[in-house]
Amino acid sequence: MSLLSIKNANVIYKVKDTEIHAVNDVSFEVEQQDSVGIVGESGSGKSTLAMMILRLLPKDTSVTEGEIEFDDRELLKMTEEEFDKLRWTELAAVFQKSMNALSPVHRIGHQMMNIYKVHCPNVSKLETKKRVLELFRMVNLPERVFHLYQHELSGGMMQRVSIALSLMFNPKLIIMDEATTALDVITESQILEEIMKLQKELKLTRLMITHDMSIVANTCRKVAVMYAGCLLEYGLVTDVIASPRHPYTIGLLKSFPNFKGERAEIYSMDGNLPDLSRLPEGCVFAPRCPYAQKKCFTCPPQTVTYENGRQVMCHFEGGNNGIQY
Ligand SMILES: Nc1ncnc2c1ncn2[C@@H]1O[C@H](COP(=O)(O)OP(=O)(O)OP(=O)(O)O)[C@@H](O)[C@H]1O
Ligand SMILES: [Mg+2]
Repeated sequence: MSLLSIKNANVIYKVKDTEIHAVNDVSFEVEQQDSVGIVGESGSGKSTLAMMILRLLPKDTSVTEGEIEFDDRELLKMTEEEFDKLRWTELAAVFQKSMNALSPVHRIGHQMMNIYKVHCPNVSKLETKKRVLELFRMVNLPERVFHLYQHELSGGMMQRVSIALSLMFNPKLIIMDEATTALDVITESQILEEIMKLQKELKLTRLMITHDMSIVANTCRKVAVMYAGCLLEYGLVTDVIASPRHPYTIGLLKSFPNFKGERAEIYSMDGNLPDLSRLPEGCVFAPRCPYAQKKCFTCPPQTVTYENGRQVMCHFEGGNNGIQY
């Protein structure tokens, strides 16, 4: 069963006289307790999509369209008050610099206790402290962090605090946006291991935004490939990696070193993302696509959905129409 269902999501940023089409008609479903990696190069709309789900987009400079159903409720139609009850309790997020939300002049433990009290005002001080320490244990933070200030923490500890905060109220869905990107590879892989363990224990559903396809391959069951605000391919990681059907996914996979750790020549895709204020008439990827045909420049492709939920937005759906990749 789906926990999150995104239907025809669109986000336009309005900056002066220009309209930036940051998310373009994105639809996909996320099942309960599933883990979905969202990949795509910088500027492809990954964070905008996450902010749309979390209703954190700037109200005065963005316009959203579409439906986001979460646990049978339509998120975009909720009032601010209704949504506030859900944010952090059912729907939580960890960003690259989530700790910025905490004050640098108060001890970590006390701030966390105060946050807990906002949603659970009737719980005793002792119980609240117990909960904070339990969260520390869950994310492998030593108890002494309770008495420390933000500047006394390492980058890894900070992200662990952010993860602990996001788990405070046992959310159903956790969205991680480049949450481990700035860390060294060892700390990053430790935290990702912990997250996967916690996900099982707490029956969490996880959406994870990253630039790194190998992280998706190692930690997610499904992958969503975004480009210029469009969802070009979606499906099981095993299927997409074994047989990518969109030329962009093929290029993206080639641009990562061999997953088995062997040295591989790094492939770089020529060209840049299109101007999001003037999207191409046809397929958004056509100007960079080595397989583009006439039709690709004039007519936008429909998304083809296969039986197992795999989606591909290409006129030639992975070579099925006579094009050999
Ligand atoms: N607040 C904003 N106002 C105007 N334009 C924005 C705003 N936030 C993002 N954009 C634009 O929307 C597009 C998508 O940006 P977004 O941050 O969602 O991409 P991303 O895939 O998360 O990139 P990255 O991998 O670099 O984090 C970009 O062209 C960006 O410049
Ligand atoms: Mg981003």
